[in-house]
Amino acid sequence: MWELKSRWRAVGLGLLLLLSAAAQAAPSAPRRYTPDWQSLDSRPLPRWFDEAKFGVFVHWGVFSVPAWGSEWFWWHWQSERIPAYENFMKENYPPGFSYADFGPQFTARFFHPDQWAALFQAAGAKYVVLTTKHHEGFTNWPSPVSWNWNSKDVGPHRDLVGELGAAVRKRNLRYGLYHSLLEWFHPLYLLDKKNGFKTQYFVGAKTMPELYDLVNSYKPDLIWSDGDWESPDTYWNSTAFLAWLYNDSPVKDEVVVNDRWGQNCSCHHGGYYNCEDKYTPHSLPKHKWEMCTSVDSASWGYRRDMTLSTIASEQEIIEELIQTVSLGGNYLLNIGPTKDGLIDPIFQERLLAVGKWLQINGEAIYASHPWRVQFEKNITVVWYTSKDSAVYATFLYWPENGIINLKSPQTTSATKVTMLGMEGYLTWTQDLQDGFLISLPPLPPTALPVEFAWTLKLINVK
Ligand SMILES: *[C@@H]1O[C@H](CO)[C@@H](O)[C@H](O)[C@H]1NC(C)=O
Ligand SMILES: *[C@@H]1O[C@H](CO)[C@@H](O)[C@H](O)[C@H]1NC(C)=O
Ligand SMILES: *[C@@H]1O[C@H](CO)[C@@H](O)[C@H](O)[C@H]1NC(C)=O
Repeated sequence: MWELKSRWRAVGLGLLLLLSAAAQAAPSAPRRYTPDWQSLDSRPLPRWFDEAKFGVFVHWGVFSVPAWGSEWFWWHWQSERIPAYENFMKENYPPGFSYADFGPQFTARFFHPDQWAALFQAAGAKYVVLTTKHHEGFTNWPSPVSWNWNSKDVGPHRDLVGELGAAVRKRNLRYGLYHSLLEWFHPLYLLDKKNGFKTQYFVGAKTMPELYDLVNSYKPDLIWSDGDWESPDTYWNSTAFLAWLYNDSPVKDEVVVNDRWGQNCSCHHGGYYNCEDKYTPHSLPKHKWEMCTSVDSASWGYRRDMTLSTIASEQEIIEELIQTVSLGGNYLLNIGPTKDGLIDPIFQERLLAVGKWLQINGEAIYASHPWRVQFEKNITVVWYTSKDSAVYATFLYWPENGIINLKSPQTTSATKVTMLGMEGYLTWTQDLQDGFLISLPPLPPTALPVEFAWTLKLINVK
């Protein structure tokens, strides 16, 4: 009898062990976030974003029709009443022509999403962010809560958000959706504003239904929020939306968001930080960040009055990318397509220049990490990144004497130096006074792997 009992006891014990092993092997219950910043800010940033490093930003909307001044055309014209804008309308459009009259002219007639996606891929971008709705309120998708101010009913009669998303994903790029919380002239927004943002008519009728619709319909990898600055996050209900996004949405595991979710959120709350537009820190920030900037420094949207003087050069763009990545940021470079859906050749050229540079030097950029030193400056500026056991030093100007002098890396007898895009090791010496001296190959400019910003790969340095 005791034998049987102990047998059963043994079986019971075995069962218990099995069960506890199963409990350990089972994935732990997913973490739930609560709608407050303390909880939401504790969510780890999905890894893909930091590894991506480079994205293309696209500002496209009804503002691409007047295509003059900037994408803030409507505001400058009818809220600020800037004379140059009033004159532009007087001189070019019949009396009584309203901003809404631009809508039908937003045709997107030559918009071939696959051509855009091919260009962005050739630029070396790993993600693309499209304006689904700018402050003018026009939605580039058939929003269920817009009846006459969306791209299905007016203008293109197409779902621009959906079409670009499909093309971008076919090429394995991540897809981000820019969305403006506010709409300058929406009657319900103006009503809430008049009420000191104590009412939420606009948020309930427009902002929230559209944000949920965007997520459910297009499953974005990134939500690039904007237009938050006039009212607090409590007005926007941002934390409730983000808790849903992180807990229950179809993109809860992979989605990344920025920091523009209400007054004073920027640079403090959300996912990664944009801080202000064109944010350029000069030392390593503690929190993941992204620099967004525009090839045309005077506008995000396409403007017909663009001149070469405001267009960033290839070198400026590439230097900014390098600096941003060395300081732990992602670089989001903007272009504005025309109302027909064409991308100006100057924008194509700039994007392709980045792609050409990344073809050679991408090893130092994608999935890299900031090194213990971010940069040093002597004859030339040198920006550092690191990956696995390598340290990458990208220098911006080729020294006349053909010798690069680096102070920060400590060499060992096993140190090896190569230049990305070139065969063979470079010779180096360790000098008591001058530090680590690397002899660059004596090459004519035509034989160099890239025209500017060359990357040295250092192995076995500390
Ligand atoms: C905002 O969130 C609160 C709390 O979750 C909810 O009761 C309210 O209905 C929401 N308001 C809007 C306009 O979505
Ligand atoms: C944001 O910061 C400003 C300046 O510190 C302050 O006046 C304002 O009340 C803050 N707004 C909110 C919503 O916290
Ligand atoms: C700068 O580089 C030159 C040439 O390699 C070297 O002689 C000099 O010591 C360096 N200066 C500093 C401050 O590192």
